[in-house]
Amino acid sequence: MCGIVAYMGPKAVESVLLVGLTRLEYRGYDSAGIAVLNRGEIQTRKEQGKIKDLENLLQAHPVEGNIGIGHTRWATHGEPNRKNAHPHIDNSRKIAVVHNGIIENHYELRRELIKEGYVFHSETDTEVIAHLLADKLKQHPQIEDAFYQTILKIQGRYSIVFLYDGAPHRVFFARDGSPLIYGHASGESFLASDIPAIVPLASHYYTIHNGEWGWITESGEMQLFNSKNTAISPKLERIDIEVNQVEKNGYDHFMLKEIYEQPDVMRRIIQTRLNGSDGKVLFPEKAADNQFLGSLSRIFITSAGTSWHAGLVGKMYLEHLAKITTEVDLASEFRYRNPIAGGDTKVIAVSQSGETADTLASIYQAKSKFIRVLSFVNNANSAIARESDAYVDLMAGVEIGVASTKAYTAELLNLLLYALFLSGIKWVIGKTERQKICDEIRLLPSLMEETLRKSEVIKQWAQNFKETKDFIFLGRALDYPTALEGALKLKEISYIHASGYAGGEFKHGPIALVTSDVPVVCIAVQSEIYEKMLSNIEEVKARGGKIIALYTEGDKTVPKLADYSLPMPKASPLLYPILNSIPLQLLAYHVAVARNCEPDQPRNLAKSVTVE
Ligand code: F6R
Repeated sequence: MCGIVAYMGPKAVESVLLVGLTRLEYRGYDSAGIAVLNRGEIQTRKEQGKIKDLENLLQAHPVEGNIGIGHTRWATHGEPNRKNAHPHIDNSRKIAVVHNGIIENHYELRRELIKEGYVFHSETDTEVIAHLLADKLKQHPQIEDAFYQTILKIQGRYSIVFLYDGAPHRVFFARDGSPLIYGHASGESFLASDIPAIVPLASHYYTIHNGEWGWITESGEMQLFNSKNTAISPKLERIDIEVNQVEKNGYDHFMLKEIYEQPDVMRRIIQTRLNGSDGKVLFPEKAADNQFLGSLSRIFITSAGTSWHAGLVGKMYLEHLAKITTEVDLASEFRYRNPIAGGDTKVIAVSQSGETADTLASIYQAKSKFIRVLSFVNNANSAIARESDAYVDLMAGVEIGVASTKAYTAELLNLLLYALFLSGIKWVIGKTERQKICDEIRLLPSLMEETLRKSEVIKQWAQNFKETKDFIFLGRALDYPTALEGALKLKEISYIHASGYAGGEFKHGPIALVTSDVPVVCIAVQSEIYEKMLSNIEEVKARGGKIIALYTEGDKTVPKLADYSLPMPKASPLLYPILNSIPLQLLAYHVAVARNCEPDQPRNLAKSVTVE
């Protein structure tokens, strides 16, 4: 939530910051701003709205210089407007600050600073940092000393970046909680909330850790200190993200591009984890954790939103294939329910971003009970990966669309493979059966491609739902979480109210909602619950409801009953949660576009939710 970028080097800072902020827009997009230090003077430009609005402002009122900081905001303290947009400056206009996170003691600091005569111009918690720094400079004239004193005084989760006109050859930073990386190129330095912001300009990066602070210089260097104020040497890593991974490449939206990337994501995972013909599943990155697996008899999965839906499917995979009792918790609830656990228990945290504050808090809760934590993350440098005992790389590639698509199906496939991996360790499934499942999994990418070819049909349906106010999604067993996920996807990007239910629960209340104006999406592919889903369809039909159905090709019954029906390829039931997600993602996408909504940046949302 909130994106930060900073640049020092020979290029025009305005354009570097704008590109960086556009790449970070998924982190927040209610207002944006930049500050540039040029010839000893700080100039700021801020605008409510998207980066495009800031760009228009900069066209009318350009800034010049080679040193600058930028910010795209997701409001926590104070409305999204120009006044509350970052950067925030101190009263003498010598310091400009951008910040991601929350300063928890900002009320107290604000009161103290107002007493000292500082005048506030915004409602943000960030502004206290600018005035506090100015205040600390009175007793500590060296800016680095004043900054260190400031860090000691503030509490909360943050990454902070600031310019000071008294130190025109440095940009300062500190991190405690919210992500921040340093980017390096020859003669250029960058700071950013995420690597895509500095691709392809920077060649190397370093993930700044909690408690670290320092500054970057225009010659491409970084001076780094730990929380005890001791200098440390950062070890840089090569950036291996290609620019085409962070651009739309001809698609109208990142979401659509990412939906279409799914077969390749599945191929990558399969090649890495199923690379032999012997039914062996490989999880090399978690080798450190293998020793405890033989005695593992209980798993808690904790996650949020779409990743929670992946957890619900993961539970069924783990119980069915590995016979391990599994509970799934919303990460935001897990910490409050005091779960009972012993040495035979593991927590699996599932998170695309690896930064979700609720999921991180659930990991701390688990660790306080000495439960081992394995995380499934799409970002190996994330806080969740770091705080876990081991992590599994989802291998989905950078996901920019706010609505998660390819990361979700990557979560599902990795959880399926992990369940299969555990089934081998626990001797639950014999080699022949495991091999059979592996062969079925290998078909997944081409089955996905076949499904994606039906996008045009769904696009045409979408025209009929432009004015729809409510949707219902029904699924059973492995497809119940798919129904929840289909409903979430639709509501978050098209703003149509949608609810997902387990098919069996429908008659216990929600069926009262059925009218001819409420489409009911029924997932009725061939599996052990097929007959039961037919009953759901009949019940809806009997009450005049409109049915949109997914069915298995060759089935003659469902298409006769449904108003709209889409054949899905024949596949192992284990794969249907992955395959069936695709038409539901496409339905959400096409309905959102038909309603003129912006699928990549739905209102009020941000991709990485770093506040609890
Ligand atoms: C919805 C969506 C969110 C996230 C949730 C958790 O499309 O993306 O519901 O799944 O905020 O995020 P991660 O997976 O990053 O922990």
